[in-house]
Amino acid sequence: MKVFQAIEQRRAVKHYQKESKMPAEDFDKIMSAAILSPTSYNIQHWRFIRVTDQLHRHKMKDAAWGQAQVADAAELIVLCADVNAWSDRPERYVANSPQESQDILLPMMHAFYAGKEQIQRDEAMRSCGIVAQTIMLAAKGLDYDCCPMVGFDREEVARLIHLPKGYVIAMMIAIGKAEKAAYPRGGQLLLEEVLSENHF
Ligand SMILES: Cc1cc2nc3c(=O)[nH]c(=O)nc-3n(C[C@H](O)[C@H](O)[C@H](O)COP(=O)(O)O)c2cc1C
Repeated sequence: MKVFQAIEQRRAVKHYQKESKMPAEDFDKIMSAAILSPTSYNIQHWRFIRVTDQLHRHKMKDAAWGQAQVADAAELIVLCADVNAWSDRPERYVANSPQESQDILLPMMHAFYAGKEQIQRDEAMRSCGIVAQTIMLAAKGLDYDCCPMVGFDREEVARLIHLPKGYVIAMMIAIGKAEKAAYPRGGQLLLEEVLSENHF
C-alpha cells in the first residue's frame, strides 16, 4: 500500500474480528518499522508492552471502561516512555556518529534536558506520539486496522503492567482485523483554519 493510501484509509476502528490473530512476522514488521521513527537526539524514549495474556487483556478492558477493542483486537500495545531516557547511557544514541559529533551532541543533550522536568516529559510524550503514528500506518500498510486509545484508568493500567517509576503511559493501540468499519469521520477542520503563513 502506498503511503498516502495508508494515511487516508487509517481510521480509529472500534470493532474487531475476535478470532483473528496476527502472524508473528507481521507484528515484527510493524514494530521493526516503528523503532525507526524519529526522536529528538535519537533518544528513543518508547518502551512497548505487548499484552498477550487473555486474562490480562480482560483486566485491561475493565480498566478501559469496557471498550471492546482492548480485548477483541488481535494485538494490544501499551506505549510507555522512559522520561529519564535522556540521561540513561546517552552514548548509545550516538554510538554510530563520528567521535567529533558525539563530543558535541552529548553535552548538548545534557544541557537541553537536565533539571527541566516539563521538557523531559514533553519529549517523552512527543516520541510516543510519533511512534504511534508509525505503528498505525505500518499496520494499515499490512491491511490491519487499529485504534489509538487514552480512554482508560491510567493508574490501573500502570498497576497491571508494573509501570516502573520514572515512566509514563502515553496511550494504547489496539490492532487487528475490522469486524465493522469505522464511523464516518467526526468532522475535519478545514486546512485553511489550521494552516497559517509566517505567524498566527
Ligand atoms: C491519543 C488518542 C486517544 C484516543 N482514545 C480513544 C479511546 O480511548 N477510545 C476510542 O474509541 N477512540 C479513541 N481515539 C480515537 C479518536 O476518537 C479518533 O482518532 C478521532 O475521532 C479521529 O477519527 P479517525 O482516527 O478515525 O480519523 C483516540 C485517538 C487518539 C489520537
